[in-house]
Amino acid sequence: MSSTESPKLYLDSEKDELFERGPWPKPFAFNQEVARVFDDMVSRSVPLYHEVLTAAAHWTRSYVQPDTKVIDLGCSTGTYMELLGRFLKAPTHLVGVDNSASMLEKAEEKLKDIAQRHTVSLHCQDASETDFSDSSVVIMNYTLQFLPMDQRPSLLQSIAEGLRPGGLLFLSEKVKSPCPRFQETITHHYEAFKEFNGYARTEIERKKEALEHVLVPYTQRQLTELLYKAGFSQVDILLKMHNFVSFIALK
Ligand SMILES: C[S@@+](CC[C@H](N)C(=O)[O-])C[C@H]1O[C@@H](n2cnc3c(N)ncnc32)[C@H](O)[C@@H]1O
Repeated sequence: MSSTESPKLYLDSEKDELFERGPWPKPFAFNQEVARVFDDMVSRSVPLYHEVLTAAAHWTRSYVQPDTKVIDLGCSTGTYMELLGRFLKAPTHLVGVDNSASMLEKAEEKLKDIAQRHTVSLHCQDASETDFSDSSVVIMNYTLQFLPMDQRPSLLQSIAEGLRPGGLLFLSEKVKSPCPRFQETITHHYEAFKEFNGYARTEIERKKEALEHVLVPYTQRQLTELLYKAGFSQVDILLKMHNFVSFIALK
């Protein structure tokens, strides 16, 4: 695949109507109901979702080293791993980690074809239990934000320690603005984006309430500082839209 190619994502779920009528998950959790609609939910809720996953696949291909692991932390239904499997020509060890068994059940199904060409391992465990040794690329898209605040610095440190020299972390997160006026405007535009994607006002409000204290975002600056503190030598921003940002961090 050339560096301009942007193949379709393998999205396979029912329509997300979870917050249309009760009972909806509150507090929000990645349970069986969410797994059932997750691909539709994430692709209608995360700005630039397709672009971010495609960029991550291009960057993974540029940084993967022979005989190393590529780890997707918070792999959910395996959409990124499936895309990556199509991108990488050389057989590679692809590791997916998620603490939701319902998500991994879906991932296993989605990754059947990819597993013919690559070694695919899926681990149902907490991100903090991951063995990052012998990895050259770690992807963590929209997952760090769900971890308890006090566990985040040590997880980033373990990633930086485990990565091979020259290895890459590709990290995407929802962020908050340090400026209340900007935060208000960003939220307004983000919610308009969700409405444009077919969510009703009530659904948006209910999900926001369910995510309170569950998804706790940093500012972009806090994340940058955390990444340097964890031991990464270079940190940059690759994509940003509304309150979602993708970082690249080099060991
Ligand atoms: C928003 S989803 C990630 C989306 C996915 N990376 C993608 O690009 O489609 C967050 C995922 O992280 C998982 N997760 C949340 N907390 C976790 C933890 N402490 N350890 C492992 N996985 C976790 C959830 O089960 C969920 O599947």
